[in-house]
Amino acid sequence: MIQLAPSILSADFSRLGKSVETIEKAGAHLIHVDVMDGHFVPNISFGSAVMKSLAGKTSMAFDVHLMIEEPDRYLEDFVTEQTEYITVHQEACVHLNRTLQHIKSLGVKAGIALNPATPLSVLEYCLEDVDMVLIMSVNPGFGGQRFIPSALNKVKRLYRMKNERNPKLKIEIDGGINLSNVRSVTDAGVEIVVAGSSVFGCEDVAGSVKKFITEFK
Ligand code: DX5
Ligand code: ZN
Repeated sequence: MIQLAPSILSADFSRLGKSVETIEKAGAHLIHVDVMDGHFVPNISFGSAVMKSLAGKTSMAFDVHLMIEEPDRYLEDFVTEQTEYITVHQEACVHLNRTLQHIKSLGVKAGIALNPATPLSVLEYCLEDVDMVLIMSVNPGFGGQRFIPSALNKVKRLYRMKNERNPKLKIEIDGGINLSNVRSVTDAGVEIVVAGSSVFGCEDVAGSVKKFITEFK
């Protein structure tokens, strides 16, 4: 089953609770939570308090994408009953194996995110240790950027690696996904689709969620 994870980064923060209700009613599966520290990426978004404020407003699970340095210091803050995935960047983790074990010890699923220029070879010694790999199809830091085409081939290669080594692994794509290119990435093996501006940037947010889900069938 393919899941849609709208990124609240592109939502109207003054009415976040309402926005989350809207996407849930329309059939979205997960809430993608983009956390940026202004160091690992050149932008600051929000922290765990904002995520936790949504807990009562939705029953969708949180898909936490940490674009921060030294993520180990903050992992506990993002663990709630609704947290399904915590994903850290390979590029931000000096002791990646330890960080992945740390995430799993907190009872949540562990993901690794790879920047567009990071090769799949960095997964050589950790593919079996993770529940999800997030392929960045833009340089992290901002919503509303254009899809980087080489990400598609990366997903296809990762899909082959998954089938050989860790069939339960989920492949997530993040950045520049819209209704025109979503089919190409799901055909390539993506099972979790992040969409920010193409959901929350639309007049009809619910309609956009529904259109994405139709593309999954
Ligand atoms: C980028 C974030 C993405 C972003 C996606 O740094 O990780 O999740 O919000 O936004 P769109 O879909 O607009 O590219
Ligand atoms: Zn993200």
